[in-house]
Amino acid sequence: MAGKDKLIIFDTTLRDGEQSPGVTLNTEEKIEIARQFSRLGVDVLEAGFPVASPGDFNAVQRIAREVGPLMEGREGPGKVNQPMTICGLARSVPKDIQTAYDAIKDAPRHRIHLFLATSDIHLEHKLKISREQCKAQIAEMVAFAKSLCEDIEFSPEDAGRSDRDFLCEALAVAINAGATTLNIPDTVGYNTPSEYGALIKYLRENTDGAERAIWSTHCHNDLGLATANTLAGISNGARQVEVTINGIGERAGNTALEEVVMNIHTHPDTYPVYHTVNNRLFFPTSRMVSDLSGMAVQANKAIVGRNAFLHESGIHQDGVLKNKTTYEIIRPEDVGVTTGNLALGKHSGRHAFKTKLEELGYGGAALSDAQFQAAFTGFKKLADQKKSGVTDGDMHAIVAELPP
Ligand code: KIV
Ligand code: ZN
Repeated sequence: MAGKDKLIIFDTTLRDGEQSPGVTLNTEEKIEIARQFSRLGVDVLEAGFPVASPGDFNAVQRIAREVGPLMEGREGPGKVNQPMTICGLARSVPKDIQTAYDAIKDAPRHRIHLFLATSDIHLEHKLKISREQCKAQIAEMVAFAKSLCEDIEFSPEDAGRSDRDFLCEALAVAINAGATTLNIPDTVGYNTPSEYGALIKYLRENTDGAERAIWSTHCHNDLGLATANTLAGISNGARQVEVTINGIGERAGNTALEEVVMNIHTHPDTYPVYHTVNNRLFFPTSRMVSDLSGMAVQANKAIVGRNAFLHESGIHQDGVLKNKTTYEIIRPEDVGVTTGNLALGKHSGRHAFKTKLEELGYGGAALSDAQFQAAFTGFKKLADQKKSGVTDGDMHAIVAELPP
């Protein structure tokens, strides 16, 4: 893509996403999801937090060995053309780092992601260390991780509420010790888009050695701003985004992968980046993650919700039947949605009703004008009573009950 930078898609569904209350995936389920992410074209997969439990270690290790080498769906023009990097998370302590490395090391491409909080709130109340101690720990632990693995990512946890100048100092220490990706978490979803974008810009402009690292976003959705914040990060120079499918994650979740990619797809002139994800796999991937994790996707969720491409009102249905672009900014098939786009309900009009009848085999001369009128009246009566909309079965029943 001429003049554009590649945006690295770092998926953390199996790590931050699995931290959603109520979600536990077993190893086989994680491997199935990881295979799908590989086919989807994810660049870096955070497969888990290996020190958390023997089960987590085993799952990350099996993903590294069994999914790490796969190339299915990844080769060809516009594709990523290399295997997925398998990443393991670690706190900035030797045992976590060593365990993360042991779990990921068999993947052809692997990364250790270590983190240490930098906000005064976390330093004082959680870690009970000074800023100087924090920097010393970053220097020592990033260097230790680097002694094991070339590809090192460092995250200053709660960066969104950390002092900017201290962050610059801490991140410069991480770069000097060998970190190649610097991820800036808005851990509690506190920032606004303009604040988060300005933070990325400030850090890139004021951190010694900033140009040697890839800058990354990691946003949480507590105020419903995760996608907007991530896009603001991209506009201000971030070239990696940390995301999950369906936006699952701690509390209100993480940035949704499908939302970021489809924003870039819809506004190619706004964002100076391109991606190598196969967006046509979004819908099946969303359903796979939802089915295996037990986390339902809200019906009106952008891009992958059941209603995301459905039109119910007569005015909208008439518009899309004449020309889809009247009410659709994304072609449903571009995100893998192949079902019809008309939802029949009490707001629907004759145009959509007729189209639906035709789809069900009652087109042409199947119904007389009087029968059509009677069917439409019956449909409106039923639609008024039904909360869940009129189904194909209801339509067949309406036609069956028509007078000859
Ligand atoms: O939200 C967060 O701060 C995290 C870090 C571990 C990157 O998930
Ligand atoms: Zn997080």
